Amino acid sequence: MGVEREPIGVIGTGYVGLVTAAGFAELGSEVWCVDIDAAKVERLRRGEAPIYEPGLEALLTKHAGRLHFSTDLDEALQRARLLFVAVGTPPTYSGDADLSAVHAVVDAIPASDEHALVMKSTVPCGTGAAIQRVLGERGKAGLAYVSCPEFLKEGSAVEDFMHPDRVVVGDNGDWAGDAVVELYAPLNAPLVRTDVASAEMVKLASNAFLATKISFINEIANVCEETHADVVEVARGMGLDDRIGSKFLQAGIGFGGSCFPKDVNALKQLAGNSGYHFQLLTAVIEVNELQKRRVIAKLQKHLGALVGKRVTLLGLAFKPNTDDMREASSLVLSARLNADGAIVSAYDPVAENEARSLISGLRFAESAMDSLLDADAVVLVTEWPEFLELDWREVAASMKGKLVIDGRNALDPDAVRGAGLVYEGIGRG
Ligand SMILES: NC(=O)c1ccc[n+]([C@@H]2O[C@H](COP(=O)([O-])OP(=O)(O)OC[C@H]3O[C@@H](n4cnc5c(N)ncnc54)[C@H](O)[C@@H]3O)[C@@H](O)[C@H]2O)c1
Repeated sequence: MGVEREPIGVIGTGYVGLVTAAGFAELGSEVWCVDIDAAKVERLRRGEAPIYEPGLEALLTKHAGRLHFSTDLDEALQRARLLFVAVGTPPTYSGDADLSAVHAVVDAIPASDEHALVMKSTVPCGTGAAIQRVLGERGKAGLAYVSCPEFLKEGSAVEDFMHPDRVVVGDNGDWAGDAVVELYAPLNAPLVRTDVASAEMVKLASNAFLATKISFINEIANVCEETHADVVEVARGMGLDDRIGSKFLQAGIGFGGSCFPKDVNALKQLAGNSGYHFQLLTAVIEVNELQKRRVIAKLQKHLGALVGKRVTLLGLAFKPNTDDMREASSLVLSARLNADGAIVSAYDPVAENEARSLISGLRFAESAMDSLLDADAVVLVTEWPEFLELDWREVAASMKGKLVIDGRNALDPDAVRGAGLVYEGIGRG
C-alpha cells in the first residue's frame, strides 16, 4: 500500500496548471482543478487536453479518476489545503505583469487558517509580500503563502515536471512550505528553500539570463555575418567551456513564447519602478526585436522588392512540440511580409488553429510540400523534426525560386546546397 498523498487544488488549467495537476496525480494526489473558462472545463471533463503537450493527454487519461475539474472553487477548498495558483500573468501595455487574474483568485479565497496559496504563476518580486499585506488587511491573515515558481518548458513540460533541475520553495517557514516540500519529495530534485521574495526573483532572473544568452549569441551571429565566421562553430567552441555551457547558444531569428519576452520585460519594468535602469535587459529585448526583422533584409538581398514574391514559412509555433503562438517570431515575420506585399504560405504541424486567430493574409497549407509549391523563397521558422527530414531535391523541384533561409540553423547546409538551392543561415559566414 502506498502512503496517502496530500490532495491539492489547482486554480487555472493552462499549460502550467494542467501539467502540475497531471504531474501530482501521477505522484498519487487527488487533484481538484478550477478554471473560469467553462468550455475548457467541459473539454477536460471529457478527457480532452485543450493544449498540445507531449505526454499530457496520456496522463490525463491515466488519472481521470484522480483529476476533478470545475468552474467552482468550493470543492477544491473542501478537499485540499494547498491551492496552487497557475493563472496567466500576461504583459500589460506598459510591460509590467498584469496581475488581475492573480488578484481575482486572492479575492475569491475566503478567510481560513487551514489553506495556503501556492503561487506557481510568474509574478514580479514583491508580489507575495503585497498579497500577504492585502490578506492581512482583509482579515485573511490565516491563509499561508508559498512561492513555488515553475520552470517547465513547453514541448517537454511533462518530462520537466517529473525531472526538474530544481524545486524552488519560498515561504515563511510554516506548515505550508513543509507541505509543498513534501509533495515534491518523490522527485528527488535539488531543493532551494528560501524566502518568498528570493524565490520570485529566482524565476525572473533565470528567464532573463537565458534570454540574455540567446540575444548574446544572436549578436555574435550578426557579427559573424560581417566577418565570415560561422556562429555554429563559434557556439560549439564556446559551449564546451563548462562555465558557459552549450544550451541556449543557438543563433536564430529570436526568442518568443509566453514567458521569455514577458518575464524579461516584467523584470526590466520591476527594476525601473524601483528606480533602477536595467540597461542589459533593455538591450536584450531590442536585439531580439531586430533579430526577427533581419530575415526580411536577407529575403530582399536575394529577391529584391518583395511585392508579389511567394514566401513560405515552415513552422509558426514559437518552438517545436507546442501549438503556443504567443510572441512567436512568425507573427512579426508574417506581418512584415504582408506589409511588403509578399504572398505568404505557411505550414505548421499543430499550431494552425492557434495561428488562424492571430495571423491574417496568409495561406495555410496542408503539408510542408504543399506550402512550398511555386515558392520564391522558404524560411524555416520553427525547427519541427519533419522539416529537418525534407527531401531537398523534391523541394527544389517544387519551388519556383532557390532561396532557403534557415532561421534556426537547424538544416544541413550541404544537403540544401546539394539540391541546387541557395542556403542562408543565421550568422553562418
Ligand atoms: N507556459 C509556460 O511555459 C510557463 C512556464 C513557467 C511559468 N509560467 C507562468 O505560469 C502562469 C500560467 O501560465 P500558462 O501558460 O499556464 O497560462 P495559460 O494562459 O495557458 O492558462 C491560464 C489559465 O488560468 C485560467 N484563469 C484565469 N483567471 C482565472 C481565475 N480567476 N480562476 C481560475 N482560472 C483562471 C485561464 O482560463 C487559463 O485556463 C503564468 O504566470 C506564466 O508566466 C508559464
